[in-house]
Amino acid sequence: MKEKLEQLRSQVLESLDKLSDKKELDELRVRVMGKKGQLTELLRGMGALPPEERPKAGQLVNSLRVELEAKFDEIEARMEEQLKNSRLAEETLDITMPGKRRKLGGLHPLNSVLEELIDIFRPMGFDVVDGPEIETEYYIFEALNVPKDHPARDEQDTFYLTDDILLRTQTSAAQIRVMEHLKPPIRIISPGRVYRADEVDATHSPVFHQVEGLVGDKGITMCDLKGVLEQFAHEMYGPETKVRFRPSFFPFTEPSVEVDVSCGECGGKGCRVCKGSGWIEILGAGMVHPNVLSVCGIDPEEYSGFAFGIGLDRLTTTRHKISDIRLLFENDRRFLEQFSR
Ligand code: DAH
Repeated sequence: MKEKLEQLRSQVLESLDKLSDKKELDELRVRVMGKKGQLTELLRGMGALPPEERPKAGQLVNSLRVELEAKFDEIEARMEEQLKNSRLAEETLDITMPGKRRKLGGLHPLNSVLEELIDIFRPMGFDVVDGPEIETEYYIFEALNVPKDHPARDEQDTFYLTDDILLRTQTSAAQIRVMEHLKPPIRIISPGRVYRADEVDATHSPVFHQVEGLVGDKGITMCDLKGVLEQFAHEMYGPETKVRFRPSFFPFTEPSVEVDVSCGECGGKGCRVCKGSGWIEILGAGMVHPNVLSVCGIDPEEYSGFAFGIGLDRLTTTRHKISDIRLLFENDRRFLEQFSR
């Protein structure tokens, strides 16, 4: 019996030395200590011994069991430790490595210039309002005093959806929608997309952007118009910028003006950007026509107002010295990334 135990002992110790992983260790443990394991078999075999030898043999088996169990536990602990260490080594973070820079999105140049514009008008008391891109003839033409035979109504210039419904060709419809609901004092700007059947080239696009402005109150004069728009031009283009008001015509304003700023590229001397004139046109404006006030239920004898329509695309291309309006609509990231702040 003693020899058998000795034999088993050295055999198990030898196998333990050769183990390569925990699975093998578990298998060996079952093979030796399990219910049908070698050690258990030996214990059973004790029945064949003479009774006086049994206690002694029992002791020997037990002490071997205790010894082997301790050995198994020790090796298992060592294996787990090794596993943990190698996992830790694999997962080590080198916190001195430089971080990965993630690309952040940025505002489209049209939107960042629009934000600048809003930041100029808001402190002057203007609210920002929205208007529909699909409009009726009434709001785009009729109520804005545009006569039936006016060339702006031409199908060649306007995208009609039905006889009466169209894609707005100007944000000026916002004036009517506002005055129908608000009574003076009124101070709003209304930015948005507009549509015209234009061929695409460096300065034209069938979709472009305008910002409409409207002020209405008692005693509003051309001086207010000039003051507000000059202030806007100086804040947008810098205080050294010259501003010029040219007489013009729009059906919904009387008198009407177009407003130019001195060319930022050449300082007014004349260059490619301003086509040699030294000036860049940025908006149309005027005193709201009495007919337009009346249509909205505002008495032109009591109230007056001025309105303006700014070309946001032109504002953006001149502000950022962009040579071709198409760049604003192509969404080429190499272009857009230059403006992300
Ligand atoms: N709606 C005009 C256009 O599309 C621009 C404009 C001119 C708007 C004069 C106005 C204005 O409000 O008073 O060309």
